[in-house]
Amino acid sequence: MTPFERRTRACQQRLRDHGATAAVLFPSRNLQYTTGFVEEPSERPLFFIVPAEGDPVFVVPELYGQQVRAETWVSDVRTWGDDDDPLALTEAVVSELSIETHESRLLVDDTMWAQFTQALHALFPTATFGLASAVLGPLRCRKDDAEIEALREAAAITDQVVASIRGLGSDAIGMTETELAADIETRLEAAGGTGVSFEPTIAAGPNGAKPHHGHGEREIRAGEPVVLDFGTRASGYPSDQTRTFVFGGEPATTVTAVHEVVRNAQAAAIEAVEPGVAAGAVDSAAREVVESAGYGEQFIHRTGHGVGLEVHEEPYIVADNDRSLEPGMVFSVEPGVYVPGEFGVRIEDLVIVTDEGCERLNHADRGWKCE
Ligand code: CO
Repeated sequence: MTPFERRTRACQQRLRDHGATAAVLFPSRNLQYTTGFVEEPSERPLFFIVPAEGDPVFVVPELYGQQVRAETWVSDVRTWGDDDDPLALTEAVVSELSIETHESRLLVDDTMWAQFTQALHALFPTATFGLASAVLGPLRCRKDDAEIEALREAAAITDQVVASIRGLGSDAIGMTETELAADIETRLEAAGGTGVSFEPTIAAGPNGAKPHHGHGEREIRAGEPVVLDFGTRASGYPSDQTRTFVFGGEPATTVTAVHEVVRNAQAAAIEAVEPGVAAGAVDSAAREVVESAGYGEQFIHRTGHGVGLEVHEEPYIVADNDRSLEPGMVFSVEPGVYVPGEFGVRIEDLVIVTDEGCERLNHADRGWKCE
């Protein structure tokens, strides 16, 4: 059984547990998760209908028929041509699957376009509707072996590029943030990554005080810290890592002091990760270190976010989140301190919750020195 089929079968078990009749997916991360099929949504209806019992059915535009048959584990693929009525086909499939449309409960993909959810409402007026994340969210939160392997691979590629960027040392001085970002993208591809998992943040000097700065024309100067937050994808899964470097020259003592505080906060948070601990407790562990050093007001975001097919997903490592951590969850631990007009420091690694505690997926040196 492929991982995709295993996940779909687990989804069906959850549909039964929830008293739901079927899930109807649409081109999305949920569809990628259950079938491996990746496509942008379009005006042509494309549904993956997963009944609580029995085998799922793909309803796809004819032009995707061969692709879906060749690339997914799903054997029942129904196609419609541009002169057919796709909703009539959908209705026929639903009645064939004996998904009771009277008093049935259909879970639609969270990101399905409204034009399609409205069409489903019209087709099944007596059904009640919910979101597919009710059954797929808890599954996607705990990564399976294939996902962990992909996340490890993406993290290893990023580690390698972080080390090579550190190796630039004072050669990076004078480069613009955007030049460095382009260089990083080239290195990620050369190391085996697929593109970037998000627009890199390369934030020099005062730009570092804006956590999601992106990159611009500012040149990197001697003695100033640069926040480098970037990632790539491997086998569909992203990496997300941050280091704060001083490429050359002597940084101010506040910079090195803040860097140490952030590093200690990150270590304390990672130390706190184990099954059964609330996600909010990991946030507190980081925040306590930053607060006791006097920079609490300048730690202006949550400590982390889950990472899977999406770069930001459950579980969120945020104050008051009492959700218990479970083995197989993967998330970032990324405290930061931001001094407006001056500089910022953030250090981020991904961790996976294990039976005993956690394991970091990133291992690249966390220090500020580049020589
Ligand atoms: Co992140």
